[in-house]
Amino acid sequence: MIKTLILYESRYGSTWEAADIISLIMGPSRRYPVSRFGDACRDFDFIVLGAPIYNGKIHKKMELFIEKEREWLDGKKIALFCTCLNGAEGLHVLREMEDNLGDNVLELGVFGGRLDMNRLKESDFQALTRFLSREGLPPQGMDLFDKEEIVEWSLRLKDIRDGLLNKVPIPKLSGDVESFLKQHNTCTLATSSPGRIRATPLEYIYIMGQVYILSEGGEKFANLIFNSRASVAVYEDYTDMNNLRGMQITGRATIVEDRDEYQQVIKKKGMTMEFVRSLPADLHMIRMDMEKVEFLNSDYKKQGYSARQVLKF
Ligand SMILES: Cc1cc2nc3c(=O)[nH]c(=O)nc-3n(C[C@H](O)[C@H](O)[C@H](O)COP(=O)(O)O)c2cc1C
Repeated sequence: MIKTLILYESRYGSTWEAADIISLIMGPSRRYPVSRFGDACRDFDFIVLGAPIYNGKIHKKMELFIEKEREWLDGKKIALFCTCLNGAEGLHVLREMEDNLGDNVLELGVFGGRLDMNRLKESDFQALTRFLSREGLPPQGMDLFDKEEIVEWSLRLKDIRDGLLNKVPIPKLSGDVESFLKQHNTCTLATSSPGRIRATPLEYIYIMGQVYILSEGGEKFANLIFNSRASVAVYEDYTDMNNLRGMQITGRATIVEDRDEYQQVIKKKGMTMEFVRSLPADLHMIRMDMEKVEFLNSDYKKQGYSARQVLKF
């Protein structure tokens, strides 16, 4: 498991809020203002540094922190983000920081900031009035903070971090994913459409390299007819933290229309078409086309790999 440390500086709260969102999505993680950096922070593997832009520069406390902890940072993988009102300027500042920190900077994020004129200290009020007039902007508060762009960035960062995992070789991982799916038969299918969500416990079968679900119908179809994007979870009961086994599959849940495919699955499931036709109601079939499997398996840790593995199709 790669642990992420989010170190931030914030004067009026926007960067704190961004750091909070990033921390929630990047877990296992911890979020600290740079002023609280200490020995407990040193063994984190992936470091996210975030600060606001003030007067065309990254917040001074962040600048000083990087200077002071440069040697420690040189041994880490890093992502940088800022909040600001002038995105081009924010990007320019982050690129300079990236040039300084070198190849271990893996991602930059520039987010819109927030400004409430009524909360500013007198000196900030003056500095800001100068900044706004330089930018040709009216001397008034602004809210460019956009949770969605921070969530998108965090998900991208999570993908980048997963790329750093101590990886199980793909043929072994594919084999393990297949065995796990064959050994189990119950899943939770999560579906959604605008205004509706549904998590459905279901029996599944894994055959011909696919997860198939048979169903008489129900609310999940109210979502699937609008949105085939779906997620399936297959997992074992929790016993303790060293014995975790479960997977989250992301992909598309397609209602099977093809007669041959339908008949093949029915046969492989040990049923006949005569039996299906004799049922009092129609039996629908869903095929989960897997795009990504996130597999958490404590056994991998014992074998020297990361417990969390990602298989993409
Ligand atoms: C005194 C002052 C100076 C600022 N200077 C800049 C600037 O040069 N460039 C910019 O893009 N934003 C500037 N901003 C906007 C801040 O970067 C933005 O409001 C940020 O989100 C504040 O973060 P915080 O709430 O975490 O302190 C300035 C804001 C203040 C109050």
